[in-house]
Amino acid sequence: MTDITTTLGAGSDPSSATRIAADVDMLATPEFTLPGLGVTRYAYTDAYARTLHYFEEAFRGFGFDVRYDPVGTLIASNRPPGERCFGLGSHCDSVRNGGRYDGTLGVACALEVCRLAHERGLDLPLRVFSFLEEEGSGFGQMLLGSRIMLQRVSDDDLASYRTDDGVSFVEAAREAGFGPDRHRESIVALDGLVGWIEPHIEQGRVLQDTGYRLGVVDAIAGYIHADAKVEGRADHAGATPMGFRSDAAITAAEIVVELDGMARECSDDVVGTVGEIHLQPGVINVVPGTAEFTLDLRSTSDAHAELAERISAYGRSRAEARGQRWSYRERQRVEPMAMHERVVNAVERAASTTGHPWRRMPSGAAHDTMLVAERVPSAMVFVPCVDGISHAPEERADPADAALAAEVILAAVRDLMKVERDA
Ligand code: HGY
Ligand code: MN
Ligand code: MN
Repeated sequence: MTDITTTLGAGSDPSSATRIAADVDMLATPEFTLPGLGVTRYAYTDAYARTLHYFEEAFRGFGFDVRYDPVGTLIASNRPPGERCFGLGSHCDSVRNGGRYDGTLGVACALEVCRLAHERGLDLPLRVFSFLEEEGSGFGQMLLGSRIMLQRVSDDDLASYRTDDGVSFVEAAREAGFGPDRHRESIVALDGLVGWIEPHIEQGRVLQDTGYRLGVVDAIAGYIHADAKVEGRADHAGATPMGFRSDAAITAAEIVVELDGMARECSDDVVGTVGEIHLQPGVINVVPGTAEFTLDLRSTSDAHAELAERISAYGRSRAEARGQRWSYRERQRVEPMAMHERVVNAVERAASTTGHPWRRMPSGAAHDTMLVAERVPSAMVFVPCVDGISHAPEERADPADAALAAEVILAAVRDLMKVERDA
């Protein structure tokens, strides 16, 4: 654990790695997370509000203005809204019992780029975002803040989103002081952006295993999220002979195993995951009448779309073979997104000048950049995470890698802004 010296704002002048480590480590302390292992930070919770306030203070410490879009995405800038700027950022919400680096390291790295520009007297027009609800752990909708900004979410969708304990997104957003009815206005936050770079941990182990310190992301895998349900019959676990059962768990188990096999036999950029599975009534002495589970299907091609069709057809066939009911409802999908060559090349040029090893690579994980890239030339910069562990308390990354990423991003932005001006 790095010694925590407050590094907010100007004044102290520790290295970038120390400042980034201090930010990330501080935001992993109890004030900034729900209780439990690792970091649990959902949108509109007090811990999340305090995290945003922490970043607000840091940005204001060197003269950036901080405001929020209508649903609570943080926007910090040294230029008035709509003016020509380069965009940076990530998210600072987390999965349940997640790591301290996923998302938060990216916002802290973007903050460091702004601090460095300020300290070096560079009049670089910058706008930093911390997107609301990137993980979807609060309302079940991944990339929610950026999908809202890119007009992917309707009024009805928004009205339907609820936390596990039934609190509606609209109520929670209003309660937190935002104006969800004006969510369509979020898109103006992108006005004037001439480019976008998101720093992030890799969340895989390619960089570590191949000895690179930086990843320059040129494509992000698309995904489909869906909810499946098998309805059989609840029965007495002792008095019901095996031949008389309509056990929903058996059908669900077959589908989980089949998905694993299907995904493995697809192209090797395809992944398929059942992350949640709930049996009803979920007690030891009752044959499960209902099984509900989630599907997370991804690829950098479009192979996961075909996998979705195949696994839902398989699920239907297995349920119907047992006289059970099957339902499959797509929750959302975001297509694979290529990054912009001009931005990727600028990052590659900057990385090459450092003398540290870097490589081009795709992202298997989803990021808000997939949505921003629809309107703004974008790229991402990855830093290694130890053994590829992420979405877990054991997630670890080296702030010195994030500091290197900050220098590379600063150099790339200066390059692009100059090029932009000459163009
Ligand atoms: O699941 C993802 O790809 C991201 O971490 N939200
Ligand atoms: Mn993330
Ligand atoms: Mn994540």
